[in-house]
Amino acid sequence: MVNRLSGSPLFKRLASSAAVSKSTRNAVLATVATGGLAAWYVNLYGNPIKAVTLAEHGLHPGEYPWSHKGWLDTFDHQSLRRGFQVYREVCAACHSLNLVAWRTLVGVTHTSDEVRAMAEEAEYDNEPNDEGEIEKRPGKLSDYIPAPYANEQAARAANSGALPPDLSLIVKARHGACDYIFSLLTGYPDDPPAGATVASGLNYNPYFPGGGIAMGRVLFDGLVEYEDGTPATTSQMAKDVTTFLNWAAEPEHDVRKKTGLKVLIITGSLWALSLWVKRFKWTPVKTRRIVYKPPKL
Ligand code: HEC
Repeated sequence: MVNRLSGSPLFKRLASSAAVSKSTRNAVLATVATGGLAAWYVNLYGNPIKAVTLAEHGLHPGEYPWSHKGWLDTFDHQSLRRGFQVYREVCAACHSLNLVAWRTLVGVTHTSDEVRAMAEEAEYDNEPNDEGEIEKRPGKLSDYIPAPYANEQAARAANSGALPPDLSLIVKARHGACDYIFSLLTGYPDDPPAGATVASGLNYNPYFPGGGIAMGRVLFDGLVEYEDGTPATTSQMAKDVTTFLNWAAEPEHDVRKKTGLKVLIITGSLWALSLWVKRFKWTPVKTRRIVYKPPKL
């Protein structure tokens, strides 16, 4: 195509002006053709216009300065401990945390004695005995945190048809992550704004896609009593439980950042070293001068 185009009178004239070489002209043509193709493709398939409404997709949460957000920041473990208390005393009534075992809390939020005591408060199925009957036994560190309902049907039946999702990975499973969960928990207005309607049985929350959520407001000032004396305001509890849920979804978070830093330092030094070796090896080659001495005739 480039060849045929370059045969056209316009390009003949272009080519005949001595300043434009043939290869320059072909390069320009090829660039124009590529650009045109890309524009055509984007026009056809790129960036479709979506008819979205705020109500349909939910209000975008604000950005909050989470203390574990930065490159070198770890979780605030006091906040994790408070957050687990909020989960246990409030959310655990409806939400499971199926992927979190008691043992993983040891050294993160509680000491092993504290976690063992909490695990023992729950009952688990024992191995079948000699008669094949399954008896109950107190929990152990290796057990998983018990779910409030036996199965999905029971959960829906108790929540007028809505299923409270498992919270183990919820921070990763929602667009907006921590910012979304925090906004959702603190985003219940006293009354829905004028004109906003939600189906009966649902509660108005602008951050939830659709605006109507089956979960009502669950956090109220002073709902739990923190053992470290932190005032349990609604936003404090929301922040703590969100931080805890972030840990549940990314328990490797602190170690990952620490390892990442080591990797950067080591690969960075190796990179600098390799630059130095390269220059060292190439210096004689780069700085040599080849001189032609014509033979004396
Ligand atoms: C009385 C039961 C109940 C309690 C207590 C409760 N929730 Fe819920 N939660 C629900 C139900 C039901 C849904 C499903 C809502 C829906 O699909 O409309 C839900 C949904 C959610 C969602 C998912 C929202 C989404 O984007 O899909 C999150 C996150 C959540 N709850 C967090 C919490 C946290 C954190 C707590 C504790 C502070 C808590 N919930 C306490 C019943 C509850």
